[in-house]
Amino acid sequence: MNKQELIEGAKAVLNSNFNEDKGFTIPCEGLYPFQWHWDSGFIAIGFAHYDIEKAKCEIESLLSGQWDNGFIPHIVFHNESDTYFPGPDYHRSDLHPASPKPVKTTGITQPPVLGFVLKEIYDIASNKQDILKFIKRNIDKIYQNHTHFYTHRDPYNEGLVYIYHNWESGTDNSPIWDEIWQTMNPPKYKYERKDTTHVDASQRPTNREYDCYLHLLEIAKAHNYDEGKIAELSPFLVQDPLFNAILIKSNEALIELYQIIGGNNNKIEILKSWQDKAKTRFEEKLFNEELGSYVYYDLRNDKQIAYATSSSFTPLFAGIPNKERANKLVDSLIQNFGSEDLFLCASFDPKSEHYNPVKYWRGPVWINLNWLIYRGLKRYGYLEIAKRLKQETINYIELHGFYEYFDARKDQFENAAYGGKNFSWSAALTLDLLNE
Ligand code: DGY
Repeated sequence: MNKQELIEGAKAVLNSNFNEDKGFTIPCEGLYPFQWHWDSGFIAIGFAHYDIEKAKCEIESLLSGQWDNGFIPHIVFHNESDTYFPGPDYHRSDLHPASPKPVKTTGITQPPVLGFVLKEIYDIASNKQDILKFIKRNIDKIYQNHTHFYTHRDPYNEGLVYIYHNWESGTDNSPIWDEIWQTMNPPKYKYERKDTTHVDASQRPTNREYDCYLHLLEIAKAHNYDEGKIAELSPFLVQDPLFNAILIKSNEALIELYQIIGGNNNKIEILKSWQDKAKTRFEEKLFNEELGSYVYYDLRNDKQIAYATSSSFTPLFAGIPNKERANKLVDSLIQNFGSEDLFLCASFDPKSEHYNPVKYWRGPVWINLNWLIYRGLKRYGYLEIAKRLKQETINYIELHGFYEYFDARKDQFENAAYGGKNFSWSAALTLDLLNE
């Protein structure tokens, strides 16, 4: 496929996943039939390259699911579908008094991409005046979302927020969580999985993992999604370097956008104070010298979870490390994830015994993580490795199409495509890479 064919292919995927009636885009037919939070952010960046109205619509339809307290859920159920479990009747957002009444949502969130997405869209848009109108209409909602995080999800006032569910991380079944699952003893719930009717079970989480996922939701639901109760009771409380890097990058974007808009000095000052605290603590708490990588922190059990993952490299995107630490990080990226037999960037340390090259977030390459790391590498001037990462990302799509995730092993390249087909963010971010 040449560049133009790839661009047309990406647009075709996005257009066919767009729900005209409700004004949002599904991540993938069958497997993910509703609106997902971070998916929509990446999708909006793709739309901005050729249909700015759809980009706006994507964001505003996601924000229609925002709760009165600023919380933005991980799924908004605008439509009915019986191809996904767990759906709206399981999640029961109505249990929380601040949830919106006209639309059902989940009571967990996802990486807070919207701040930096607004800035991306601003940069891409040719009519700056028009896009600024849109940004002015929505920016405070995102600021309120960040306020909610720092108010409810940062118990030690560190500037680092926690997640209370693996689905909040976006990296659903990473080996990072394995030890936490071992501390839990969930009942064997009765339910019918739908994901494994769309995708081979070897590429998806196990049933035991699903029981743990549901158990965390049961705890939250038993307390009507009360943040204080969840902090007290959830066996899963994790400070995630990907989630926090995205929040920090989104803070930075909000500062830049408020400066463009003018006024708003109070909010800018508050955002800056969050940034100072967050970056300092990130550096102190989430770097593991031995691995030369950023890692997750298990806040419930008060210890680092010492594994390198693709998330380890995303602090570059948010400008968190100084140059010396960035050098160390990029060395570990090249040595551990970029050896001669591998394409960049496996989602889990390929040298680890827990690495699984075909299973979801336990090893395969994801286009959105590659995009975040690519942007980070460019930000710091590591242009050669950035170029390699971009080329290898496009190579996957060129050979296989817009799949959900890919095998990092070079000798598997011919059969490297896994998960959902015609996956929206793979299309959207390919468009962004090609339009650079
Ligand atoms: C899933 O169902 O696998 C989703 O990633 C949850 O958000």
